Amino acid sequence: MEIVVSGIRPTGNLHLGNYFGAVRAFVQMQREYDCRFFIADWHSLTTHPHPDNIVRNAYTILAEYLACGLDPEQATIYIQSDVPEVLELYLYLNMNAYLGELERTTSFKEKARQQPDNVNAGLLTYPALMAADILLHKGVKVPVGKDQEQNMEMARKFARRFNTIYGVDYFAEPQSYSLAGKAVKVPGLDGSGKMGKSDGNCIYLMDDEKTISKKVMKAVTDSGPTEPNSEKPDVIQNLFTFMEIVSTPEVYQHFDELYNNCSIRYGDMKKQLAADINAYAAPIRERIAEFSADQDQLRRIARQGAERAREHAAKTIEEVRRIIGFRSGK
Ligand code: TRP
Repeated sequence: MEIVVSGIRPTGNLHLGNYFGAVRAFVQMQREYDCRFFIADWHSLTTHPHPDNIVRNAYTILAEYLACGLDPEQATIYIQSDVPEVLELYLYLNMNAYLGELERTTSFKEKARQQPDNVNAGLLTYPALMAADILLHKGVKVPVGKDQEQNMEMARKFARRFNTIYGVDYFAEPQSYSLAGKAVKVPGLDGSGKMGKSDGNCIYLMDDEKTISKKVMKAVTDSGPTEPNSEKPDVIQNLFTFMEIVSTPEVYQHFDELYNNCSIRYGDMKKQLAADINAYAAPIRERIAEFSADQDQLRRIARQGAERAREHAAKTIEEVRRIIGFRSGK
């Protein structure tokens, strides 16, 4: 079975955009591939987060992904910092990563601009750590968004370079696995095209019924159509697109007809939309609460995932050590 690797950036809580984008696709992939999913908490150190937030964030994210259906029996799910083997591979890859190419990556330049007082070496070598995450598992497929293309390019380059330098055919070049076909784009509630661009346009999986309702009722609309069958402006189309995702086709058609004959009342439509979003989100929200309430269980799941990941990792490290020329010890 092909090995899939993906790192989850521990930034904030999951929203519906994440859910219908990557998360649901991950849940599907775990049935078809040998998946290794991890929470990239080492990567997050590039911004110097407060120690109090690190573990809590990782466990919150773990609970959310489990609630969405990631299954520790089907996939290897772990927290990156529980698998120290990745650091050894990171070191080896760093020895063959050049300052010039690292400095030229757009994500580095962007981060350096965002945090000019903290242009640290971890930021610079981020692509090497990401490549180590993938190559440690000898992953061949990596589901990532477009923004990660350059990092994937680097991972392939590091894999090739390792093979060339040592005259081996050890690492396969990992391929980006586009989620485009599986992901559904959820519109933002502020009229922007996509949920997640800003905090204000997100419905989080943890949001309760009242919060969902409040956010949906606040969504931008216009004064309504005056001509029958007129084209929907973006803000209105967004609401319909949302409805298409969470409501039944009958409900969607009902409001589409009301729009087309100019008798739509957006308040009614939003009420229905809020109810349908809540119906969708409520079971997930309940499972998040259950997982979060049982920290021992989360710890057990994380430990089991780390053990499995480390088994795979140990094999790679042993082989890489041999290739590089280390013979002592094992
Ligand atoms: N860089 C990825 C992001 O920002 C997260 C990540 C870290 C990752 N290591 C990875 C993704 C390995 C895929 C494979 O989203």
